[in-house]
This record gives sequence, structure tokens and C-alpha cells, in this order.
Amino acid sequence: MKKPNIYIGNDHGGYTLKVALVNYLTEKGYEVEDVGCHSEDIVRYPYYAAKVAKAVLADAGARGILLCSTGIGMSIIANKYKGIRAALCYSSYQAKMTSAHNNSNILCLGGRCIGVFEAYDMLNNWLETPYEGGRHDISLGLIKDAEEVNFSDVQWPQKE
Ligand code: RB5
Repeated sequence: MKKPNIYIGNDHGGYTLKVALVNYLTEKGYEVEDVGCHSEDIVRYPYYAAKVAKAVLADAGARGILLCSTGIGMSIIANKYKGIRAALCYSSYQAKMTSAHNNSNILCLGGRCIGVFEAYDMLNNWLETPYEGGRHDISLGLIKDAEEVNFSDVQWPQKE
């Protein structure tokens, strides 16, 4: 089976862990596009979440990874995009279950909250666990219904 394309983005707080994850995933044979940022200089995380969310929505089957200090801000903004199911995870079990039950297309991680080997293990669980479908389709359908009513079709930021 073809490995999904992966888009990865971060702010200053996620930069160090992001570098390790890009190397790890590339060595495992994934196509990884790093949308930045590329240093620990202070940036605003919503811009990087927007880049990854838009890229994932435009590339069928692609998945995204977002890192800030805690993963929280990234998860909040990523879930403002229609069609994005971003999961903030702090354990391998959560990473596995969010693939199996939520079919999450973005994984959010806290660069200053988890160790690098824990992050590798979480990524493996998230990327290698298939969505189970079945009864979980009902909940995902309800989320889609909510998006249709609650979300505008115009994506922020409108100018790049
Ligand atoms: C930046 O200092 C920090 O607020 C950010 O990385 C993130 O953790 C926000 O949720």
C-alpha cells in the first residue's frame, strides 16, 4: 500500500521535535513536506496550522502533523478547517485509537511536552492503524453535518 504524503508544520516550540520527526519519517520512506517554521524564532502558530490543513485537504489521503509547545493551539486552529479531524495526543494508545475511531487526518503533538522516542512510537501507531469504519461512520457523519451548518467555505487566511 502506498504510504500517505505527510505535511508537517510547527511553531518555535515545536521546531526541535519537528526536525527529529522529519528525519525519522523520511528514513521510513514517507514523502514529507515541511511547511515550516524553520528555526526557534518566535512565530504565530495559526499560520502554520493553516498551511498544513489546506495541504491535507487538497491532497486525497494525505495526513498532517502539527507541533507547537503543547500541541493545544495547533489542534484548536486546525479543527477550524472543514474536513480536518485534528487529534491532540499524549500517548501511543490515543494515537492508535484516533486513527481507528476518528479517522483523524492531522496529529497534533506538544514539542515541549513529549520525548522524541515517545513521539516516534505515537507516529507509528497513528500512521499504521487503519480506520475501522462501521459504527464510527455514524459519529463522523454527524461531525460532517455540523461542519456543513457551522462552517463557511472560505478558508482563512484569504491572502498568502
Ligand atoms: C508558544 O509560546 C506557545 O503558546 C505555543 O507553542 C503553543 O503551545 C500554543 O498552544
